[in-house]
Formats: sequence, C-alpha cells, structure tokens
Amino acid sequence: MSQPLFDLERLRRETFLRRIEYREELASTNDLALELARRDDVLLPLLVLVERQTAGRGRGDHHWWSAAGALTFSILIDIDRERLAPERRPLVSLTTALAIGEALELLVPDADIGLKWPNDVLIQSRKVCGVLLESPSRSGGRMVVGIGLNVNNSLALALVELQQKATSLSDAAQRNFDLTDVLILVLRRFADLFERLATHRLNLRELWTPRCVLTGRVVQLQVGRQSLSGICRGIDDRGALLLETPSGLERCHSGTVCQVT
Ligand code: BTN
Repeated sequence: MSQPLFDLERLRRETFLRRIEYREELASTNDLALELARRDDVLLPLLVLVERQTAGRGRGDHHWWSAAGALTFSILIDIDRERLAPERRPLVSLTTALAIGEALELLVPDADIGLKWPNDVLIQSRKVCGVLLESPSRSGGRMVVGIGLNVNNSLALALVELQQKATSLSDAAQRNFDLTDVLILVLRRFADLFERLATHRLNLRELWTPRCVLTGRVVQLQVGRQSLSGICRGIDDRGALLLETPSGLERCHSGTVCQVT
C-alpha cells in the first residue's frame, strides 16, 4: 500500500479544523467545498484536501495547474459565526495571501517572498501560490477559500510558458518539504490573521506594504472594460490598490493587474 501523503490526525490535532474531507482525486476542491456549503449538517471550519486536482480553477477564466507534490485545498468557513463584519469581508483574500506569505517566510527564510495585489504570493518574482475566494449562491454566511500552493511540484514539469512565470518551494529551496508541515503552518497563520481581522486587531496595510511587489512601479489595471495606469502606492486600509494617475490618486477595489513596468 502506498504511504498516505498527509497525516490527517496531525491536521485535526494541530489546527482549528472541525472536519476534513480528504480525496485522492477531485476536479476542483472549491467545487466540493461549494457543494458542502449548501448543507446544514456540516461541521465548520471544514477542509477539502485532495492529492490530485484535475481541473483546478483560477481567478477569471484561468485554470490552475498542479502536479504531484502540490498543495491544493479549500477551507469552508462560516463568516457569520466567526463574527466577520460585512465591511471586513473584502479583506479576506488579501489576508489569506498575507498569511501564506508569512508562512513561506518561515519555511524559506532566504527567499525573496512578495505579495502581488490582490492575492498572489511570489518567490523571486514568480508566482508560487494563488487564492480563489467563492461563496455559494445562497451563501448563508459561508465562504470558500481555495488555495493552490506549489510545494514539491517542480515547475520543470510544467508548460514552458508557465515555467517563466511560476515557481515552487522545492524549486526555490532546492529541497523537498513535508506537505503536512507546510499545510499546518499555512492553516495556523490563516487562523491567526483571520481572527485578528475579525476582531479588528489586524493592520493589513502595515503588514502588506513591505511585502508589496507593485509599490513604486507603473501598474496597468484592467477593471471590466476599462484600463487604468498609474504608479502603485501600496494599499489602503480597505485593501484597495492605490494608483497615482495623472488625474489623482485612484483607489481600486477590484481589477486585474495586467502589466507592471
Ligand atoms: C489564481 O491565482 O488564479 C487562483 C488559483 C486558485 C487555485 C486553487 S487550488 C485549490 C482550489 N480549487 C480550485 O479549483 N482552485 C483553488
């Protein structure tokens, strides 16, 4: 019998999770989490964890590539029960990226780790992690936080165009990591920052700013059909990207960064 990839007992013991749905293969962990979010009888917070994700979804119409050795998982939380005030909900995606960035700083202290608004985590300017937040249509106060983190999946196995834009922890550190250790660390950082966000003890701007890879650079942002260009001045307290444009400072609450120079 093959060795299980994860120590589920440790995950239960050492994290805030009340239920774990573990599968060998799934199209998308977010899909299963969204399905479970519609049920009244599930214990939350719940983790959907998979060994092989075959059709991972990214932001917009992007796919999420992963291979053996990657972490692909979704956390289903009840944001009403966690007492997350409505005006703080848009900050969950930035908070999640920050939590992962902090975890990676502990795991690979010599690597240059950065955050790219709104929720990409980079190592040496290459994407190592993506976050996809979704809510079921009748949300009932529930939110799915989907995370794809390249750990032991070397980008040498990926398509050439991805190799130039992405990386993994093993590529950066030249060694492999224990997936359970990495997942526990990420989940603990997430729980800590989420709790601070909910209790108004998280200064997101202060923690984000030194890690922001866009600050001081000319950023082109696509917002719907419109494109906006300006020098990035970090984020504000509400998580908006600050762009200094010829017509003044713009606070951008949504959009896709399409060019950075
Ligand atoms: C992005 O950067 O575009 C977001 C990528 C999010 C990928 C993760 S992997 C686990 C979860 N399940 C999915 O289908 N997507 C997210």
